[in-house]
Amino acid sequence: MAKKPRFQRPTGMRDILPEEQPYFEKIYRTVDEVARFYGFGKIDTPIVEDVELYERGTGQSTDIVEKQMYSFKTRGGDALALRPEFTPGIVRAYNEHGMLNLPQPVKLYACGPLFRYEHPQAGRYRQFHQVDFEVFGEESAAIDAQVIQIFYTVLKELKFGHLICEVNSIGDTACRPYYKKVLTNFLRPRQNSLCADCKRRTRENPLRVLDCKEEKCQRLKAQAPQILDHLCEQCKSHFKSLLEFLDEADLPYHLDPYLVRGLDYYTKTVFEIFSETAVQEQKEEVISRSALVGGGRYDSLVRLLGGKDVPATGAAAGVERIIAAMKERGFPPAEIPGPKVFLAQLGDLPKKRSLKLLEELRKAKIPIAESLGRDSLRTQLARADKLEVEYTLILGQREVLDGAIVIRKMDTGEQQTVKMAKVIDELRKRLSDKSK
Ligand code: HAM
Repeated sequence: MAKKPRFQRPTGMRDILPEEQPYFEKIYRTVDEVARFYGFGKIDTPIVEDVELYERGTGQSTDIVEKQMYSFKTRGGDALALRPEFTPGIVRAYNEHGMLNLPQPVKLYACGPLFRYEHPQAGRYRQFHQVDFEVFGEESAAIDAQVIQIFYTVLKELKFGHLICEVNSIGDTACRPYYKKVLTNFLRPRQNSLCADCKRRTRENPLRVLDCKEEKCQRLKAQAPQILDHLCEQCKSHFKSLLEFLDEADLPYHLDPYLVRGLDYYTKTVFEIFSETAVQEQKEEVISRSALVGGGRYDSLVRLLGGKDVPATGAAAGVERIIAAMKERGFPPAEIPGPKVFLAQLGDLPKKRSLKLLEELRKAKIPIAESLGRDSLRTQLARADKLEVEYTLILGQREVLDGAIVIRKMDTGEQQTVKMAKVIDELRKRLSDKSK
């Protein structure tokens, strides 16, 4: 067996090799187009932020802050963390750049890597990528529905046919504290039916129990009181109007009264989007059952992080999860156009001339491949065949001295010598004749 190399990638992190890049490209290109159409501006925030931003924003009692943050002290003594999610960083930027003074709503989107120290498994990595959309300064449920619609649109453009959005409302500061009490009263006498973490969660943040993946906690959850029965008038009417918007826009949803999401900042709307076939088939593979998109409204976070009372809503999709689902379903990645021409060179002088010629062809936008390390014509023609190019340019010693070059048509083997000064025009003509 081959010996493992001394250095390997860190656990739970991946190299994205050239073969996989077309999937990323397809997703990012689609997201950019949809974002532009819906009036979102792109934002890049630092990959590290003040650790307290997440402690306060994401929430002290969340798995992310309790167990999953990559935090460290800098040489200067600052406590920073690799970002585990985009939302708190984008809220910080909204506050720091006074975006409240811009016409509202302010619509921002971001794409990039995030870091969570999770137990690695299919669809769950320690470094992964998200596309994230956030809208600030609009309290209407229409915007919650629009964010859902945007993710549906992106996924549909990528060819996902059957999508379903699980929705719920988790109330706000007016009604949630009462529900928490009701839930705690239900959980307290049933501690023996809970996992060790949930026993603690009952005291610290009982809603988190509803999010636990342990089977025994799931069983108990099915009998727990539902927050929808305890919403205040305002939250109830927001939720009702969200469902009306979703109906009106033909966005299929399913009401999940126990959906709470694992982050502390949500108010009112929470949702997750799944590919429906996976939900229906209940495939055993974890990846098929995990959410592609998660999000919701967070009306108190801007203030909590030092800003004014600004309502906000947003969501994020996991890029690796979308790619895995695309591969499972055989959906195509972006097409990367291959070369149409190959340049074969025979010996020292032609090789030197090749560098210049390649650059001339690049400027002329003629996609070309070469193999400057090889000198045998046979090997180079074999490579050209493999790349399925239409023409090969052959540059030998004599051609360089004559200021000429040979053009070989690959399917017939027909060869013609042309003046070097004319080669670009000749190739252009031949390639455009072909495409007619
Ligand atoms: P989240 O549910 O933690 O929400 O993550 C959103 C999506 O990121 C998930 O549905 C999943 O597709 C992907 N994801 C999360 N963790 C991993 C992982 N370890 N490996 C691979 N993919 C993963 C948030 O992050 C919120 N900031 C979303 C949001 C934006 N809410 C409001 N605005």
